[in-house]
This record gives sequence, C-alpha cells and structure tokens, in this order.
Amino acid sequence: MCSLLILLNNKSTMKNKLIALFLMGSSAFFYAAEVNAQEIVPSARSITSKYDVVIDKLISKMTLEEKIGMLHGNSMFATGGVKRLGIPELKMADGPLGVREEISRDNWSAAGWDNDFATYYPASGALAATWNTKMAYTFGNNVGQELRARNKDMLLSPAINIVRTPLGGRTYEYLTEDPFLNKKMAVQLVIGLQKNDVMACVKHFAANNQETNRDFYDVQMDERTLREIYLPGFEAVVKEGKAYSIMGAYNKLRGEYLCENDYMLNKILRNEWDFKGVVVSDWAAVHSTVKSLKNGLDIEMGTPKPFNEFFLANKLIAAVKAGEISETEINIHVKRILRTLYQVKAMGAKDRVKGSIATEAHYQDAYKIASESVVLLKNENNTLPIKLSGIKSIAVIGNNATKKNALGGFGAGVKTKREITPLEGLKNKLPNSIKINYAEGYLERYEEKKSGKLGDITLSGPVTIDQLDPVKLQEAIEAAKTSDMVIVFAGSNRDYETEGSDRRNLKLPFGQEELIKKILEVNPKTIVVMIAGAPYDIDAIGKKTSALVWSWFNGSEGGNALADVLLGNVNPSGKLPWTMPKNINESPAHATNSFPGGKTITYTEGVLVGYRWFDTKKIEPLYPFGYGLSYTNFSISNFTTDKKRYRKNETIRTKVTIKNTGDKFGAEVLQLYTSQPVCSVLRPEKELKAFEKIFLKPGESKTVEMSIKVSDLAFYDEAKKDWNVEAGDFMLQLGNSSRNILSKVKIAIQ
Ligand code: BGC
Repeated sequence: MCSLLILLNNKSTMKNKLIALFLMGSSAFFYAAEVNAQEIVPSARSITSKYDVVIDKLISKMTLEEKIGMLHGNSMFATGGVKRLGIPELKMADGPLGVREEISRDNWSAAGWDNDFATYYPASGALAATWNTKMAYTFGNNVGQELRARNKDMLLSPAINIVRTPLGGRTYEYLTEDPFLNKKMAVQLVIGLQKNDVMACVKHFAANNQETNRDFYDVQMDERTLREIYLPGFEAVVKEGKAYSIMGAYNKLRGEYLCENDYMLNKILRNEWDFKGVVVSDWAAVHSTVKSLKNGLDIEMGTPKPFNEFFLANKLIAAVKAGEISETEINIHVKRILRTLYQVKAMGAKDRVKGSIATEAHYQDAYKIASESVVLLKNENNTLPIKLSGIKSIAVIGNNATKKNALGGFGAGVKTKREITPLEGLKNKLPNSIKINYAEGYLERYEEKKSGKLGDITLSGPVTIDQLDPVKLQEAIEAAKTSDMVIVFAGSNRDYETEGSDRRNLKLPFGQEELIKKILEVNPKTIVVMIAGAPYDIDAIGKKTSALVWSWFNGSEGGNALADVLLGNVNPSGKLPWTMPKNINESPAHATNSFPGGKTITYTEGVLVGYRWFDTKKIEPLYPFGYGLSYTNFSISNFTTDKKRYRKNETIRTKVTIKNTGDKFGAEVLQLYTSQPVCSVLRPEKELKAFEKIFLKPGESKTVEMSIKVSDLAFYDEAKKDWNVEAGDFMLQLGNSSRNILSKVKIAIQ
C-alpha cells in the first residue's frame, strides 16, 4: 500500500486541511480529514453589564408605549424598536436547518425575496450522529455567519428537546434521546453561533417532547426526571454556552404554561442558573399578560392577528395604567433586551460581524457534517463500499433518490440554491461508464386532509397512502432485473416527519417495505439506504438485505456525502443518537402507556428514557443508541483509571488505547457509560458520561484520555432537593454503542 498526502490551505476558514489519499489495491480510498486543525474555540461570552448606565438613560427617555413595543412582535419575526433613540428592531430567523427564508411581516407566507438563499445544513439528528462536538461548533459558526449576512440578531435554534418517543414529529429537528450528548453538542453550537454577534434562542424550554396536543398538554414528571433528563441541555447552554435567549414551549409543566411558569423561568432559569438573557415565547404560546411577565417571560411572539392585540401589547399598557404591574417592572424586561442588543453589537457598533451566506466554504462545511453523520447499520460480507469492478449498470430506486428536504412539512426549512439529492450525488461520483437506471418505485401520496385548519394539525398529521402504484412497481422491478446491482433510497421525508404532528407508528410509509422485498426477490445485490430523521421499523428489510445505510435530511451536500460513503471515498463514522426499537411498544413512553396522553401526560418511565430504559429492562433494541459500523476495524486495550478509589471532589481520569486494525482510514466513537449497581434509588444500567471521536490511519493507535468528575456521577435526590453522589461501587463501561461494551473497570467512591 502506498499513501500520498496533500496539504491544502483553505484561506477562507484559515484551517489547514490535510487530505489523505490512500491507495489500496485497485480501489482508491479517499478521505478528507482535519489534522491539527484544532480551531481555537473561543470561550463563551457572558452578557455584559457595562452598558447599564447608558441603558438606564435610554429607558428613562422611553414612553410606556415604546417600552412595551419592545416586548412583543410587531411583525412575524421582529419586535419593535425605538427609531428616535437609535434602538433597532430585534430581528429573528428560524432555525435548526439553517437560516430560514424571509417570511412576510404579517403572515406566514414567504416574503419572496431573491437574496435570502442560504446553505441548508444537516438536520439536528444528523449533527448529533456525528458525535463530534467540533462539527457542532462549525455548524453554529456557519449559521451565525449566514444570520449576520441576512442582518438578523437572533437565531431560533438550536432545538434541543429530548427525543422521548421515536414517533415525535420533530425528532429530526432535535439532537438525541441522551442528555449528555445533547448538552455537549448544544453548547458548542451555541458558542460557535454567538461568536458572530448574534443570539441563540435555545428552544423549547422545556418538557416539550411531542407534537400531539402541544398547545395545551400538561406534563407531569417527578423532579429527578426533570433534572436528570430534560434540563441538563438547557442548563449547560445557559451556564457553559452563555446562550443569550431561551424560547418558552407551548405546553404546560405541572399545570402552568411554560411561558408563564414561575418555577421554570424565575426559580430555575434565572435564580438557580443565573440566566441574564431574554425569554422569548414560542409563536402564540402566551396565555396571559401580567402573569407571563411576572413569571419570567420577556418577549411575546406570535402568529398573525393585529400585533397590538398580543398579551404583551395593548393589554399590558392597560395593565400598567390600571396599576396591575408597575412601570419599574416593565423596565426590567426592556433592560434585558437592550443588554442583549448591546451584546450582539446591534446598537450601532461599527465592528459587528458582517457575515457571509451560501458560500462554497459553507457548502463544504455542510458536506463535512453530512459525511460524518451517515450511519452504517449492516454490512454483511463487506458488501460496502461498492466494488465497481464488473459493474456496468446500477438501478437507483426510490422517490427518496430525488426528493428534496430543505423545505417541506409544517416547520421551518431553508430556501437554498443547492440540495444535492442522492441520485445527483451518485451521478457526480460514479464514473461515466456506469449506467444508472433510475425508477421512482413508490409514490409519495397522502390522504386528503379532512381539515386544513391550523389548530387541527396536532391531531391529524399526514396520513399516507401505502398501496404501490402498479406501473411504478413494474418499472422498478425492470430496472432491478436489468442492472448489475441496486441501490434503494427509502425512508421518509420532511412532509411526513413534520412539526405539528407525531407519526402514528414506525411503519415505512408509501408501501416501501413491499417494494424493497419485491426488488430483493429479483436482484439480491440490493443495498438499502434509509433517508429519515427518526426511527422506523426496518427489521424485516434489515434481515433481507446485506447492506443497510442510514442517512438523514442531510443538507445541501447530503447527496454527495452519501455517494462518497457508498463508494468508499469516505469511511462512515456516524453513530445513532437514539435507540431504534424493534417494536414501538417496547419503547419507554409506549411501554408505560404514556404517549400521547390526553390533556395530561405523565412521564411514567421517569429517568428511563431511550437506552436507559432498554438497557435497564434488558430489552433488545433493533439498533442501539451509539451504534454504527465502519469499513475498518478497531481494537481497544488497556482501559484503566488513574485510581481505584475517589473522593467526591475528585476527577476520574481514564485511559484507553485504540488501534485501527483494518486497512482504511476511519473513526470510532469511544463511549464511556457509568452505572451504580447498588444505590438507594434505581439507577439506569448505563448513563453516558464521556465520549470521544477518534480518527485513525490504518495501523495507527492512540491513547485516549477521558475524564469524569465524581460529582457528575450524582443522581438528583428529591429528598435533599440537590444532587447526591452516594458512596459505593461504580462501573465504568467503555463501548462503541450502549450495547457493545468492550471493557469495564470498577471504581469506588468514598
Ligand atoms: C415553532 C418554533 C419556531 C416558531 C417560529 C413555532 O411553531 O415551535 O420552533 O421557531 O414557530 O417559526
């Protein structure tokens, strides 16, 4: 084997990139990796109080109406400014897939601009599947740049709710089922984003884990579950990421709407976590005037109706005049907003980041994230990467080969000039001599909606038509029969997985399972590639096909990244950010019969969310959390800790050696889980406490250090109302998925 190394200097990002080209036998294996490209990640900047004197002066000059104008939307995505005092509107944009196109000022339709094309970034599930916090930082930094190029102040992102049920309509938009992976990714995203003189608005705070009845359901859960599962991501973005704003959720927690929840907004967010930024409501999530404001909300945003009819508009002016709330209290909220505007240099600073949008460098970053996110689920007899020798034709089958997902469904998307589909990706990457026989195979079809009214959508999500079209089926069978091999692009899309409604089951829509079975009957050389944002029942398909790949709503360069993985130009290194169950009824919210609930949803499974449930209850999932294969192999050895006994204020330092024992460059994610077998409360069988993604050349080995603070082994003790590390034995379990533990070490905490 010979290897050739080329050093490129990408001036736009000033990162040195080492592109390694490994020639192996007849097949060239190519992988672009950053080497020593440790960008100096700036530390988070807290909101400064250095402008307070100026701010107080400004406030003293404002009329009550001007002040209250800043506390509510004056249009769909901005709050009022005060022109005569040089206070601009606070301008917002969605969202989680990149900067959303401009929306009209007074309704949901697109404004029809021609300069709001942006880079479409991989959806959050994909980002989490990279298990690479540098990718999260890159993502944030890029979107921050694009947001500035659009002259906005606040990005309504990241969305970091925990994936409680695989059926959740916004699963693709959220990161993961695990609070630790969630916080590690979210913090870096926020730091990268806010570095660009913009605010992150982290959403949806909190306990907002399904779409069904989202406008009114009331979540009941115990305090331990809230603290251990649903809050860590938010706490970390506030304390470590210094997020400048938080979005309150639609629903209720313990009887109080989350945009007027004193416990969540005042007691936890502000008093405990010392949050200095602004709380923005979700769109039309406010239900009261004085109560909302007193209980911690700063800004009310909403859907069209005259903006002065909002709870925090004319009604608030009237409440002040009636003495129900004082102007001094109004000033507190105005001051918070002004502080954030100064913080992001929106108050006339000359040196504010200008930004750039949809640049080639941004597309390449989207490519990098996408290529690290693809998960190899099955690869019998090394079917993948595709060996092209002897292949003259490939049948490409499936509506998903050409389906675009930058826009779609009910939620925020991105208007983009580039979205490489899987079919285009293959055309770009395959030699011209190979003939592609494309057949759509299945049609994306839905039952007519019975009601188009917005309020109904959370109950009646899209209902698919699952009968195959005989003509399409026949075309696909012909293409499969007459080609040397087949790639089926299956899964779902952003019309089916959507904000506003949850899925009814895990079934693959549009008759795809039947289609794939029929294709496999006529051509066993069939690879199945799923494109989706949430778990599906792919058990039967997985058993029949020799290679199964998982990709996502994967951004502008998704098709190129996917083709590179299939052809072996990139070695897959993505790991599932959630558990794929065999059967929905084995998933915690469903096994406990607590989804979708009615007006009240009790989170009966408690802290046993995701793999915590499956591993503790010893239920075998279809594919476990953290799972994903590679084209190379790794061995790990010498997993050790620096000591055997620790005090509660110490840190556990672990070391392990990992070696790439195969013949291809690749990456493995080392995952460190802990458990406490004997404890006064039930502890999950595994809890992720550290992870590290390691890139290794063939034959290369590295010693990897991961540490865990003993204090992070605590559970939330309801009796003490505090975190508690109970002395005793703990198991440190090192694996490459929650179900594949490779080495264990027992330690004792004194
Ligand atoms: C969503 C938010 C989004 C907002 C504005 C709401 O329906 O829940 O996530 O930021 O709309 O588009």
